[in-house]
Amino acid sequence: MNSDLVAVLDLGSTKVTCLVASADGADGMTIDAVASVPCKGMRRGQVADMSEVSRAIADVVRRVELGVEEDIESLVVGVSGAHIEGISSQGYKPIVPAGRKLTHQDVLEVINHSRSVTIPADREQIQSLPREFRVDGQRNVHKPVGMPGSKLEVLTYIATGQSSSLQNIEQCVNGAGKRVEQMLIQSLASGVGVLTPEEMDLGVAVVDIGGSTTDVAIFVNGSIAFSASIPVGGIAVSSDLSQLLKTSPEEAERLKLESGSALAKLVDDKDSVEVLQLGQPSARPMQRKVLCEIIQSRMKEIAKLVGKQIDLSNLGALLPGGIVLTGGGSALPATDQVFTDVLPRFKVRIAEPSLGKKVPKQVGMATAVGLASFTIQCFDELTPAEGELPWRDRVKSLFSILSR
Ligand SMILES: Nc1ncnc2c1ncn2[C@@H]1O[C@H](COP(=O)(O)OP(=O)(O)OP(=O)(O)O)[C@@H](O)[C@H]1O
Ligand SMILES: [Mg+2]
Repeated sequence: MNSDLVAVLDLGSTKVTCLVASADGADGMTIDAVASVPCKGMRRGQVADMSEVSRAIADVVRRVELGVEEDIESLVVGVSGAHIEGISSQGYKPIVPAGRKLTHQDVLEVINHSRSVTIPADREQIQSLPREFRVDGQRNVHKPVGMPGSKLEVLTYIATGQSSSLQNIEQCVNGAGKRVEQMLIQSLASGVGVLTPEEMDLGVAVVDIGGSTTDVAIFVNGSIAFSASIPVGGIAVSSDLSQLLKTSPEEAERLKLESGSALAKLVDDKDSVEVLQLGQPSARPMQRKVLCEIIQSRMKEIAKLVGKQIDLSNLGALLPGGIVLTGGGSALPATDQVFTDVLPRFKVRIAEPSLGKKVPKQVGMATAVGLASFTIQCFDELTPAEGELPWRDRVKSLFSILSR
């Protein structure tokens, strides 16, 4: 593939998305092609059906290859789920001769030093993200390159994942005839996909309501400080409808997409919807408000669980940027109002990234766009220094987010 192009893969629980983008100017990016195919082989970030996921990857990548008229050999893949954990770590590097200007290499080495922490044998590191550099004890340095110093320290956020889960994902990509270029955490990607640099500096929580998970990531001082994955999303909303209204899963999904609202009080008492129940020969009218009350109770639960994670992070007081909602699950009308009702201390907005001029807007794209944007910003760090190293052996770091 043309080396200026970056290909990314978002393995969601309802669809697999492949996106190809290229760097455009100083910090811009052009999206050249996007395709999504339905896939039920992923569940809460874990591979549940390897052949289904491999088939979907092969299918979606082929569509994008046709769009860009290039072969894609390797992909940057987003990973998520309850097995992803974040730990704080520190790195240290004495500078010799003392007082010389710090280089890019020093920064890479100090981040690598922070990665020499012991983690359980069944887990591995995915990314090491610098949160703050310190030069000769001076705190809160974001761009140390070029500063004179004799001692460089870094505080990092290290994302780790269960080895078996990561290996399964890699096998699915290999099964589709492709290679994993790099793995990145999805919640970070969703943040990069929809947040403004100002929000990241101010302090903000990005909440990606997907099919089977709601991913939460908190950004403070321009970098990620917390991430968590809640095992509930839009699929639970539809399955509540299917169970309580006694419909097929497809009918429940249709009702949600065509007539759903996350806030029942916004719906007129007189509004009615036609519902086809299982075992019935034809659809029957039902108050639309009843449908929306079922949806509302699940959406409220999701908002409460997000609030709990923010409390757990101990960063709730540092979020003047509030909560930014994204993901297909946030496309339900009035989702922002439900979050405002449940978590009134935060301002709330819904965001979907723009896909540029070549691609029509669609929901659930924040992760894919963020994966591409992150990769383009960090291109130097992701590119192997010598030859074709496997993704695990590369430096998995991030500076660019600090300099956005
Ligand atoms: N217009 C819409 N209104 C309401 N819900 C929607 C809409 N569009 C999509 N959804 C819901 O969004 C969910 C899928 O969102 P998304 O595409 O972000 O998930 P995913 O990335 O496949 O899953 P995950 O991130 O959990 O692995 C589904 O439950 C779907 O019903
Ligand atoms: Mg998703």
